[in-house]
Amino acid sequence: MDRYLVVGNPVRHSKSPFIHTLFARQTQQEMEYGLCEPPLDGFTDAMRLFFARGGKGCNVTVPFKEQAFALATELTPRARRAGAVNTLKLGDDGVLLGDNTDGAGLVADLKQQSVELQGARILLLGAGGAARGALAPLLAERPSALWIANRTLAKAEQLAGEFAELGPVSAAAYAALEGPFDLIINSTSASLAGELPPLDTALIHKQITVYDMMYGTGDTAFNGWARQLGAERVIDGLGMLVEQAAEAFTLWRGIRPGTRQVLRELRRNLG
Ligand code: ATR
Repeated sequence: MDRYLVVGNPVRHSKSPFIHTLFARQTQQEMEYGLCEPPLDGFTDAMRLFFARGGKGCNVTVPFKEQAFALATELTPRARRAGAVNTLKLGDDGVLLGDNTDGAGLVADLKQQSVELQGARILLLGAGGAARGALAPLLAERPSALWIANRTLAKAEQLAGEFAELGPVSAAAYAALEGPFDLIINSTSASLAGELPPLDTALIHKQITVYDMMYGTGDTAFNGWARQLGAERVIDGLGMLVEQAAEAFTLWRGIRPGTRQVLRELRRNLG
């Protein structure tokens, strides 16, 4: 039976086995999906062993996405742009293909949730790996402006410069942001520490859509903050998780699974 796994550290709480098991059942694919938690310096060894023993593909999560990028023998254009790999696929020809489905997953979820991107004024918070992966897919949707705000302004400027050829992208310090925005996407890891990015409360209004790439049992810190300030549409990253998984599954199996029901079941499971 074809074997797949999610590799990360920590990875015990990953939802990927749940999601891919439902995808496999739905599309009647014979496959097995497990977890792998190598030590921080053991990613490459673990991967070589897995693929040597017949493994077909992996989802790669924190903190191994850059190492997966280095391990892949071929990269998709979107993985090359993202500078990180979240999906590996071993081909019959022995090529280890590295892809990055995170940004596509974000955009697919936004569309699934009927968030208008074309012509929108988008504010992206953070300039780390998650922001980098999101930029090209977001710009492909033709927003009228995309601002990147980051605590460390130089990193936002660097990203804006790198992606400038793909669309109207600019960098700004948090304190210099000028609204109104239609959509704010939080790609920072602030929520992990229960912190908030230093965003001016005046940027949150009733009609805005607020999207946090993080998720949890209730609102993330950021979404809760925005909701309290009157934002009526706040979305967490659970849909993005399911959509990026669907992209990976499609790459592996050549068949696209439906996501709506899987997202519902996952949400119910989160409690
Ligand atoms: P990831 O791969 O998840 O994007 P990362 O590359 O470590 O993780 O990037 C984390 C991002 O969250 C960065 O943009 C970071 O801002 P700095 O570049 O200024 O460090 C941002 N971040 C983390 N904690 C934050 C906080 N408390 N407030 C604002 N931004 C924060």
